[in-house]
Amino acid sequence: MSTIYTTTPLFPDLIEQLETAGHEVLIREGWGDAQALEAADALICLLNDRVDPTRIAACSHQLKIIANVAVGYENIDVDAARTSGIVVTNTPDVLTESTADHVFALLLASARRVVEADAAVRQGAFPAWGLDQAFTGLDVHGKTLGIVGLGRIGAAVARRGRLGFGMSIYYCTRTRRPDLEHELDAQHVSLEHLLETADFVVVLVPLTGETHHMIDRKAFLHMKPTAILVNASRGPVVDESALVAALRAGELAGAGLDVFEQEPEVHPGLRQCSEHVTLTPHLGSATRDTRHAMAQLAVDNVLAVLDGNPPLTPVS
Ligand code: GLV
Repeated sequence: MSTIYTTTPLFPDLIEQLETAGHEVLIREGWGDAQALEAADALICLLNDRVDPTRIAACSHQLKIIANVAVGYENIDVDAARTSGIVVTNTPDVLTESTADHVFALLLASARRVVEADAAVRQGAFPAWGLDQAFTGLDVHGKTLGIVGLGRIGAAVARRGRLGFGMSIYYCTRTRRPDLEHELDAQHVSLEHLLETADFVVVLVPLTGETHHMIDRKAFLHMKPTAILVNASRGPVVDESALVAALRAGELAGAGLDVFEQEPEVHPGLRQCSEHVTLTPHLGSATRDTRHAMAQLAVDNVLAVLDGNPPLTPVS
């Protein structure tokens, strides 16, 4: 029998799977039980659980796997885990389509001012229909969609843009995607070119030293004043203070943000911006089916490793 420490209550059917396999599941919200963690064989954690070298050192004599229930894993010191012989896994693929749906929800809501208009209707301020009436927005169909980071989610966003909304796709990545260039007529361009030409700039890069504040003051100066920025990757990829300044100065039209630099804090300046601005609390993968699929994949990784098999989705 092995012991699995989970920092979050898992779905009941998944606990049953682990218990049926003969394991003990310790549900401890967060890091509340240091002793239990030190004795655990497997750890299931979330993207807001910081797994730093000190925590890894404390449980390294017993721990075999850290299964992160997220595709991003910058919360875990992967090098320290590897040095201690601990496998780290994440949950790619299962969240791709629902995250791409949410990117489009942010893009459409910001372009068409859905949230502002909804608030007005609720307050009884139904505006008169007119040619240039309140909450007049921006077209999405046929516009240019610029995707920074064309991985799995970026590709799913590109398909929605091209096939659903007839958009032209520009992308910038280190590695070109000839398959998507062929399938979606996507054009590989420099970041500068993308910022200068896109009507919608969608950021989907992982957070690394290189991508921290990749979208900064200089980047906003390149964007069209009619453009909308969508960030559904990690907050620190965008310099939030620079974004607030750019929105206030009218250097871009708006933003749809699902991630923030200091979650759960949100820059007060951003909270004050409402025109063409949509803010959601890191909901990219938050559908019931997808969150269950993510937790299932984490459980499958744990079961594999505890059985002496290779993990299904190790991080590289
Ligand atoms: C969500 O942000 C994830 O990394 O899964």
